[in-house]
Amino acid sequence: MPKKLVILGAQWGDEGKGKIVDLLSEKFDVSVRYQGGSNAGHTVVIDGVKYIMHLLPTGILHPHNIGVIAQGMVVDLKALKEEIEDIEAKGNKIPHKLYISDRAHVVMPYHKLLDKLFEKKNGVGTTLRGIGPAYMFKFMRKGIRMVDLFDQRMFEKKVEENIEFVKDIAEKVFGERFEIDTRYIEEEVIKPFEFLKDRIIDTAKFLRENSKSVIFEGAQGTLLDIDMGTYPYVTSSNSSALGLANGTGLSPKYFKDAQIYGVAKAYLTRVGGGPFPTEVHGEEAEKLREKGGEYGATTGRPRRVGWLDLVALKHAVDVNALDGIILTKLDVLDGYPEIKVCVAYEYNGKIYKDFPASLEVLENCKPVYETLPGWKGSTKGLTDISKLPPNARRYLEFIENYIGVPIVMLSTGPQRHEYLFL
Ligand code: GDP
Ligand code: IMO
Ligand code: MG
Repeated sequence: MPKKLVILGAQWGDEGKGKIVDLLSEKFDVSVRYQGGSNAGHTVVIDGVKYIMHLLPTGILHPHNIGVIAQGMVVDLKALKEEIEDIEAKGNKIPHKLYISDRAHVVMPYHKLLDKLFEKKNGVGTTLRGIGPAYMFKFMRKGIRMVDLFDQRMFEKKVEENIEFVKDIAEKVFGERFEIDTRYIEEEVIKPFEFLKDRIIDTAKFLRENSKSVIFEGAQGTLLDIDMGTYPYVTSSNSSALGLANGTGLSPKYFKDAQIYGVAKAYLTRVGGGPFPTEVHGEEAEKLREKGGEYGATTGRPRRVGWLDLVALKHAVDVNALDGIILTKLDVLDGYPEIKVCVAYEYNGKIYKDFPASLEVLENCKPVYETLPGWKGSTKGLTDISKLPPNARRYLEFIENYIGVPIVMLSTGPQRHEYLFL
């Protein structure tokens, strides 16, 4: 195992990062989340008990592992407190081994109100967790950081200004009036802060001084990255490897010996709006969605489903300089007589092999498919590489040849033990 390992999403999120990070983080001392917030939902199944991690790094489920919520995250304190309580109710102790960055921004209740309002006009299909507005306030230099909560007068002044601004947007842009009860802020922010405040430190310094073995867990995925994804149908942070330095507060030099792996599903899903060239519909979609259990871990929304898109996956390999791919949910393709894989896009008579920036091209291109034979027998729960059906192996080789990096690990079921190294 490398001393610094980055595991991030190579598609539109929900690739199975939680399951993989849970497995790999056992060997690490520290695990870090560095962007996004409670829009993430990373599922882990341990001995039949299901955990859905939203803000906490998944590695924290291992007793020896110290978790870090780094400065690039936007943190809903109430959601964090509830997540901790939920995990502790399942018998796992959290607070003593968690640090939260004093520079991380706080998701305020009014960010969630704005998220709802903006959705009326934008239709991105966000998770409504206030993520976009929290980052918007950060970049407008109006945000509230963890450190501000230690200074009550300053906090109150900032909140007052923020509320006036939010009311103005609501009224002038959306014609909606609302009152923000300060008791609401007390319940959603101040009380959870009191519970968590001993954990708030300079996490960048902590990481500089404790970087013997650290695993970094990306949220969302490369195609949802604010810069490299399918803009504007993206999240509001750098969810590719581009977010590592600013998200942790560590110099790019720190990551020079890190290994970076992308998690990808053997097919493809996305939640919310935006282009999806290989999307399937109707009965075909229904079948794949049911087989794959493709319902959002955070919002419960049915996920859109489609075939594996190698143009998009190669983009993720290149953007992140991936050392390899960890392929999940191969078992979901068991029993398919044929499997389609997208190898190019066609738009206006032109063939695209590089992932285009243009939304127009992405929305209106036609996928060019190769059809591969499916495999007989089951890969569900497979742990022995010699039992991999020959056509499944061929599918993996086809992917590797196209993207130019190896598939290093295969996940064959949601449970911890259902995997094999290649
Ligand atoms: P994440 O956000 O990337 O962590 O992924 P999610 O947890 O949102 O969604 C992945 C879903 O697939 C979860 O329900 C996992 O329990 C499940 N899962 C993960 N790996 C596998 C796998 O190899 N096979 C199957 N069938 N399910 C898996
Ligand atoms: P994990 O970490 C899948 C999507 C939303 C929406 C867009 C913007 O579990 O893989 P946001 O609330 O971030 O402003 O929504 O991004 N989205 C995700 N899709 N998995 C996620 O996280 C996601 N987090 C956000 O559906 O399309
Ligand atoms: Mg998820």
